[in-house]
Amino acid sequence: MFKHAIVRKPGKNFKEGITSSKLGKPDLDLAILQHSNYIKALKKCGLTIIEMDADEKFPDSTFVEDTAIVNTDVAVSTNLGVLSRKGEELEIRRILERFHENIECIKNPGTLEGGDILKVGNQYYIGLSNRTNKEGARQLTKILKKHGYSCLTVQLAKLLHLKSGIAYIGDNNLIVSGELIDNPIFKDFNIIEVDKDESYAANCIRVNNYILIAKGFQKLKNSILNLRYKIIEINLSEFRKMDGGLSCLSIRF
Ligand code: GLY
Repeated sequence: MFKHAIVRKPGKNFKEGITSSKLGKPDLDLAILQHSNYIKALKKCGLTIIEMDADEKFPDSTFVEDTAIVNTDVAVSTNLGVLSRKGEELEIRRILERFHENIECIKNPGTLEGGDILKVGNQYYIGLSNRTNKEGARQLTKILKKHGYSCLTVQLAKLLHLKSGIAYIGDNNLIVSGELIDNPIFKDFNIIEVDKDESYAANCIRVNNYILIAKGFQKLKNSILNLRYKIIEINLSEFRKMDGGLSCLSIRF
């Protein structure tokens, strides 16, 4: 069970962040409203929220998930794979020190972002992307191995992050979209395929007794409801404009 979530409000320069989307500039007021609804949803799942103020130095810093990998045994501070985001991890590390005595760090030349890390029980999958390189994956594998976890790497072709296209929702159920659908590494899971026109929603999260999913993706919603999960839908239109998904907005542990 998760107990805590770290979140960070989008700042005034949110619209200056990195994006490849053609959906237009985000509306900051609406993004702040959507962010507060996201926090409400996490609270409904039973989490205590650690809410950080916006950091105006880093337009992408609301996407806190990329800055750390945390489970009950270990916390790892990442080394983000793009120059404009390097340094976001420092303040998060200070917070994690309240919960973990030793924080491990990914170091140059390794780069790694939390969006590329998928946990399934004691197994981690590490996406090799433009943000996470082989050396970052090697360092994380070594750290996690000390704590009894094993790691497998997944080469990505187009996805920003591994979890842009995949989510594990428990009970061997794996939500998968696009380039990951036929990847043999996931062949033993019960695969829930996401249609191309709903691929954004593949980035959903299981938080205790609920699945949190982006609002407006009826086919995936029905597939999850058919598996008898409880769902909370959240409108994330403004974060989507900045290439951000639902998982990116929190570190859950
Ligand atoms: N805009 C989120 C990212 O590129 O990391």
